[in-house]
Amino acid sequence: MTAKTRVAILISGRGSNMRSLVDAARAENYPAEIVLVLSNKAEAEGLAFAKDRGIATAVVDHKAFSDREAFERVLQAKLVAHGVELVCLAGFMRVLTGWFVEQWRGKMLNIHPALLPSYRGLHTHERALADGVKIHGATVHFVSPEMDAGPIVAQAAVPVLDSDTPAALAARVLEQEHKIYPLALSRVASGAARIEGSCVRTEEEPDAPAALIWPA
Ligand code: GRF
Repeated sequence: MTAKTRVAILISGRGSNMRSLVDAARAENYPAEIVLVLSNKAEAEGLAFAKDRGIATAVVDHKAFSDREAFERVLQAKLVAHGVELVCLAGFMRVLTGWFVEQWRGKMLNIHPALLPSYRGLHTHERALADGVKIHGATVHFVSPEMDAGPIVAQAAVPVLDSDTPAALAARVLEQEHKIYPLALSRVASGAARIEGSCVRTEEEPDAPAALIWPA
C-alpha cells in the first residue's frame, strides 16, 4: 500500500478523541499514522496514553511565550521535525493565528462539539439545551482562519432529550465524536475527501455518507 500520511494530534487535556484516532490508526489498512501527540499543557491526561502506545509526545507550554505566534513557531518546528503532513486538533484549547492556519491550509482538521455552522465557540451543549433544539451533534472540519468554520468533512447528529443535562448531552455527543473523527481522518488522509470551494466532496464515492445519526 502507499505510504501512510504522517499525522500529529494537538491536545490540551483528556484526549479521548486523540485516543480514538490512535486506536483507529492501528488497523493495517488505515491510511494515516500518528507520529506525534503534542500538548500545550504538561499535565494533559492524554499524554500518558500516547506515551504508553509508543507514540512520540511533546509539550510546548504557551505560557512560556510572550505572543501567540512565538508559541506557534515552536509548535511548527516540532511538527516539521517529525515530518508531519496533517494536523488534527483534538480539544486543543488555543486560538490559532492566521500565520499558523496558513501553514496548514487544507491540512488541518478540528472536531467541534456541535452541528456547525450552529453553535460555534464554547459551551455548545449548554447553549443547545437553553435553545431547546431537538437535534445536536458534532462536526469534523478543515480549519480556516475564522474559528469553528471551514469545510465540513463529517458530522454526527444525536437527539436532545427532555431529561438531558449538559453532561448527559456531552456524553452522547462524545460517543459520536469518537466515530466521526477516525472516519474523517481516514477519508482526508487517503485523499478520498477533498476540498472543493467551501465544501468537501468525496471524489471516488460521491454519495458515500459522511454523517452518522444516533443510534448508528
Ligand atoms: C471534545 O468535545 C471536542 O469536540 C472539543 O473538545 C473536547 C475534547 O475532548 N473540541 P477530548 O480531549 O478529546 O476528550
